[in-house]
Amino acid sequence: MRVNRRTTATVATAAVLGLTLAACGGGGTSGDGGGEGGGNEVEVFTWWAAGSEKAGLDALVGVFDEQHPDIEFVNGAVAGGAGSAAKDLLQTRLQAQDPPDTFQAHAGAELQDYIDAAQIEDVSDLYDEFGLADAFPADLVDRLSSEDGAIYSIPSNIHRANVVWANPTVLEENDIDPEAQYEDLDAWIADLEKLDEAGVTPISVGTTWTQVHLLETVLLADLGPEAYSGLWDGSTDWEGAEVTAALEDFETIMGLTNDDRDGLDWPEATQMVIDGSAAFNVMGDWAVAAFEEQDKVLGTDFTAAPVPGTDGTFDFLADSFTLPVGAPNPDGSKAWLETVGSLEGQVAFNKAKGSIPARTDADPAEFSEYQQTAIESFANDTIVSSLAHGAAAPVATLTAISDATSKFTTGAADLAGYQSELAAAAQG
Ligand code: GAL
Repeated sequence: MRVNRRTTATVATAAVLGLTLAACGGGGTSGDGGGEGGGNEVEVFTWWAAGSEKAGLDALVGVFDEQHPDIEFVNGAVAGGAGSAAKDLLQTRLQAQDPPDTFQAHAGAELQDYIDAAQIEDVSDLYDEFGLADAFPADLVDRLSSEDGAIYSIPSNIHRANVVWANPTVLEENDIDPEAQYEDLDAWIADLEKLDEAGVTPISVGTTWTQVHLLETVLLADLGPEAYSGLWDGSTDWEGAEVTAALEDFETIMGLTNDDRDGLDWPEATQMVIDGSAAFNVMGDWAVAAFEEQDKVLGTDFTAAPVPGTDGTFDFLADSFTLPVGAPNPDGSKAWLETVGSLEGQVAFNKAKGSIPARTDADPAEFSEYQQTAIESFANDTIVSSLAHGAAAPVATLTAISDATSKFTTGAADLAGYQSELAAAAQG
């Protein structure tokens, strides 16, 4: 079949100009309210626009092409890690009644936002139609459901956020044991400072969302899983001394990062560890796909470990796909959702993406050594919800936390001001 991969730039520009996004192959023109059920294409909106993330999407499209040869895949990807550009653009389109046929949404609070805004359809029937009733962990399905139990999306994968990646050669050159298991952040910071004194960038980070990602893992390390989770249900005081101490650690660690951070997205920040121009990088386990894409070998060329102080906890997020209200080609949407939920789709996608399948019946032996550790950790560890990736807090809270973090890390707010802004953000 033909695969129409419109470029990200085309999609973004067209949307910014308010133009109708006419997909190749006729029919399916967005912006008309749609929903008649016809069409032989599906516009799939994600932020998997480049590099290893696009490789993951391509693998899923490969299965889709086999399973649905009559339906044309139209790539609506918008670049920017963690949906940093895509989510705003998507909201503009949804509010203009110009939805794609399906879009990527995080399990948890972010999906709840779309449910509350009546922007996505209940897809419970599709779970029956596709035989998915028992395919996924019940806790995950809960995070895809409204309070009355209606399910609103089909999950494609589960990622772990609290991973630190390291370059063992850089560590050895600086007399640091690459196998070292740090008890807590203090022990790790001591080695980061040693690297700093030696003139090596201790830890790489990128633009604001990657800083928020780092922040959430620091909060998790210092507060522990229970008090970290309490930040999202109101039982942990954002103004308390424990949070102050965690923010001090965050400030220290940010002081040991690369100066050009605000101009980098995650692939460039992780690349610094791949290239040996930084020792460590905290990033979700989509990063493993970037290492593997460049033929780097776990244990030799890179290491992966829980962020110090978070061992035994799996900081969770999941991607899922939706049926938007008014989707121009709902038959196309359903076909895509069927592939997303299928065993074949999940195996192909997750092998390339670095995540683990949301389905519980995939064979762990099909996956890489790193992924097998993630599968085991997900099964046995305490699960907490990621802030930076939509699981823990609504989009408005994340946006406010991101703005406060950017002010703090660019020197426009002091620590006390930052903590107050975080407390206000968390209250919504
Ligand atoms: C997350 C998403 C992952 C990965 C990452 C980096 O929000 O869930 O699948 O794409 O962003 O862009």
